[in-house]
Amino acid sequence: MEDRAFDLIICNGTVVTDTGKKALDIGILDGKIAALQPNIHVDASQKIDATHKLVFPGFIDAHTHMGIPIMDTHSIDDFESGSIAAACGGVTAIIDFTVQEKGQSLRESVDVRIEKARGKSHIDYGLHVNVTDLPEKRVSEIPKLIEEGFSIYKVFSTYRQIGMMITWEEFRQVLKTVNENGGLVCLHAEANDLIESMTAKNVDAGNLAAIYHPRSRTAEAEAKAIARAAEIAGELDTQLYIVHLSSRAGLEAALKARERGVKLYLETCPQYLVLSEDYYKKENGFYWITTPPLRTKEDSEALWQALADDEIDVVATDHCPFTIAQKEEGNKRFPLTPNGLAGVETLFPLLYTYGVVEGRITLEQMVQLLAKNPAEIFDLSSKGSIRIGAGADLVIWDAASENVVRAENLHGNGDWSPYEGMSISGSLDYTILGGHTLVENGRFVGKDVYGELLKTD
Ligand code: URP
Ligand code: ZN
Ligand code: ZN
Repeated sequence: MEDRAFDLIICNGTVVTDTGKKALDIGILDGKIAALQPNIHVDASQKIDATHKLVFPGFIDAHTHMGIPIMDTHSIDDFESGSIAAACGGVTAIIDFTVQEKGQSLRESVDVRIEKARGKSHIDYGLHVNVTDLPEKRVSEIPKLIEEGFSIYKVFSTYRQIGMMITWEEFRQVLKTVNENGGLVCLHAEANDLIESMTAKNVDAGNLAAIYHPRSRTAEAEAKAIARAAEIAGELDTQLYIVHLSSRAGLEAALKARERGVKLYLETCPQYLVLSEDYYKKENGFYWITTPPLRTKEDSEALWQALADDEIDVVATDHCPFTIAQKEEGNKRFPLTPNGLAGVETLFPLLYTYGVVEGRITLEQMVQLLAKNPAEIFDLSSKGSIRIGAGADLVIWDAASENVVRAENLHGNGDWSPYEGMSISGSLDYTILGGHTLVENGRFVGKDVYGELLKTD
C-alpha cells in the first residue's frame, strides 16, 4: 500500500457485501472508496473505529413519495425531512417519483420535482417518471428524457377515479416505447375493475371500517393485474418491474409469468412482511390504510419465502407518511382516509431484525435486496456495494445493542409509526454519503451535506 493519506479511514469493522463479510479497513478519498484491505496504517484526516461493528454499503430505498398530493392533502415528509429520516435509517439514496399534473408535459413534471429536491435532500435522489395524464400524447417525450438519464417510468393500473390510471392499451404503448429506448417501466399492479366494484359494494352496504380496505382491494385484484401486465410484457418481450408486491396470489401470478420467460423484477415492502391485516381491526386501524393493503400472515410468509428463494429482487418502502390528524380527516372511513405509511427510517432495521436475525434471509441477501439489486436494476453504477472505486456511501451498524421503534425517536415529520413498539436488533452508528458523515453515533449531523440527483448512464 503506497503511503498516501485518505480523507477518512473506517478501521477494524466487519465489511458486509452481497457475497460475504470480511474484516477490512476502508480508505476513502475524494468521496470514493480508495482502499479496501486489512490494517490500513496511513494518515487520514479522520478515522472511525468500527470495532465489533458491521459496515454495509449505503442502502437504497427505491420507492418513496416525499410530499405527494393524496386526497386533498400531502404526504407529510418533504425531501428535507424525509432524507434526514432516511439517513438515520442507513439509507443514502432514495428513488422518488415525479407528479404529473393534468396537462403537464413529462419534462415539466421532471423539472418541478427536481426543484423540490435540489438543495433540500441530504441524501442522493433519483426520480422515476410518472405517466398518468394523456400517455398517448406524452409518449413521444420519452426517448429524449431517457437520453438525458431519466430512464425509469411508473404507471398505475388503478386509481382511475383520481385520474392516475392508464388503460392496458396505453400501458402497452408506454412499455414498448420505454423498452425500445433502453428504459424500464415500474407498474403499480391492481385490477381497477375488481377494486371499483368491490369498493362500491362495501360502500353501499355501509361497510366503511378499515378492514374493508383489504376486502375491497383484494389479493386477486393484484394477481389479475400482474397476470395481464406480464402477458403484455411477454408479447412485447420487454422487462417490467412490479412495485410493492403484497400477496401470495400476486407472487404466484408473477412466478408463473417468469416460468414462461417473462422478465419481471419484483419489489415488496416491510409492511407486507412484518405487519398484517389484523392491524385494520384495531380501534385506530384506519391509520394503517395503505395501498395495496396489508394482507394475511400467510401472504407475509409467502413473501418471506420468496425473499429467501431469491425470487423477489428489491425491498423498498413506498414511504408515504401521514400524521394522525391527516388520517383522521377520513372519519375512519376507508375510502376517504389518505393512503400510505412511513417507512424509510425503519427499512433496514426491520429487514435486518425480522429477516436476518430471525433467520429468514441471510445477511448477504439483505445487502442484495437493499443495495446491490436496486443499484443494478436502476443503473446506479457507483452504488450498491463496497468495492474500490465505488462511492463512499457506508453504514456502520452496532448489531450488539437492542432497540425498540418509537415514533418520538424517528426523524421524519410523522407523529406515529406503523411499527411502534417493535424490537430492533441493533442500532445505527454512522451513515456516510460520498465520504461525508450524515449520522454520527446515531445523531444526524449532516445539515450542511446535500445529495445529488441520480441519473442513469
Ligand atoms: O398507499 C400508498 N402506498 N400510497 C402511495 C401511492 C402508491 O400507490 O404507491
Ligand atoms: Zn403504488
Ligand atoms: Zn408508491
